[in-house]
Amino acid sequence: MNIGGIEIKGHVVLAPMAGITTLAYREFMKPFGVGLSYSEMVSDCGIDYLNEKTYAYLESSEEDRPFGLQLFGFAKENTVKAIGIVENKAEYDILDINLGCPVNKVTRTGSGSAWLKRPQELYDYIRAVVTASHKPVTAKIRLGWDEDSINVFEVATLLEKAGVAGVAVHARTSKQGYTGAPDFEKLVGLKEQLSIPLIVSGNIFSAEDAKKAVELTKADAVMVARGGVGNPYLITQINHYLDTGELLPSPDVLAQVDYAEQYAKKLIALKGEVIAIRELRGILPKFFSGFPGYKKVRLALTQNVAGEKSLFRLLEGVREQNSTP
Ligand SMILES: Cc1cc2nc3c(=O)[nH]c(=O)nc-3n(C[C@H](O)[C@H](O)[C@H](O)COP(=O)(O)O)c2cc1C
Repeated sequence: MNIGGIEIKGHVVLAPMAGITTLAYREFMKPFGVGLSYSEMVSDCGIDYLNEKTYAYLESSEEDRPFGLQLFGFAKENTVKAIGIVENKAEYDILDINLGCPVNKVTRTGSGSAWLKRPQELYDYIRAVVTASHKPVTAKIRLGWDEDSINVFEVATLLEKAGVAGVAVHARTSKQGYTGAPDFEKLVGLKEQLSIPLIVSGNIFSAEDAKKAVELTKADAVMVARGGVGNPYLITQINHYLDTGELLPSPDVLAQVDYAEQYAKKLIALKGEVIAIRELRGILPKFFSGFPGYKKVRLALTQNVAGEKSLFRLLEGVREQNSTP
């Protein structure tokens, strides 16, 4: 897949996820076969007052590239201003505009998926963004606002006309939030209408899920979001399955301990022990879900881990318990 002159390898794009897709997460996931990663969503107004926290969202590294920076906003003046700032302050390859966030705090200002309700204004907005940006622009949308106003064909076509170099579609409506089944059937025929790359998102939890989504929609790539959290090898499995038709076996618990350790080290290095441990308590249990003893590990991670030392001791314990003498 080629997005505005940037070559993206493989079949998998790492989805933007607020609170998760930090530089540490992206660097950790990359070697599993991620072709392109996106940042967490960043408010264009937040950029204007660049504080340390907002600045952290803009961080990237050599390993992280190609990297897409995602902004959200409700007015072209603000977003265009933010683009001027990030082009000076950040290293990134693609600018992405969030047109899919369903969270009330975001949509009530007119940002995120609220744009799907006003396509004509959206065209002007994206035109201004594309004109201001020296990097290729992508956009992330949903099927529509709700079941009665599905307009993904109209919006995707309009985005292409406004100059975006690629579009990602989360195959749920805004009203659905993150629950219920994504409806990839609603995207059948869309790829044929577009000449830019199409990326599809929604419940990609296995290589078979990815294959079904791609076969149905003819998409250029899938976006892995919740399915990859705690299961990084999914990305390798998807690429391998789409390339060869062969299903790779899933990693055993010892491999999962290694992955959990790698990720924890990166997050601690990025955020410091206190913040990282707090976040790891929520994410690390996912590395062990489905394995025997999951409940015990989850409980220990949430209750007995006070810091870096106890975390790595716990992981070592899981490793020892599962190693054959
Ligand atoms: C915790 C969380 C945070 C998310 N944050 C963002 C975000 O910042 N920007 C965005 O475009 N989508 C965001 N999404 C949506 C995902 O990128 C993805 O499209 C969605 O989760 C559907 O995929 P899934 O069903 O495989 O998780 C988020 C999803 C989750 C679960």
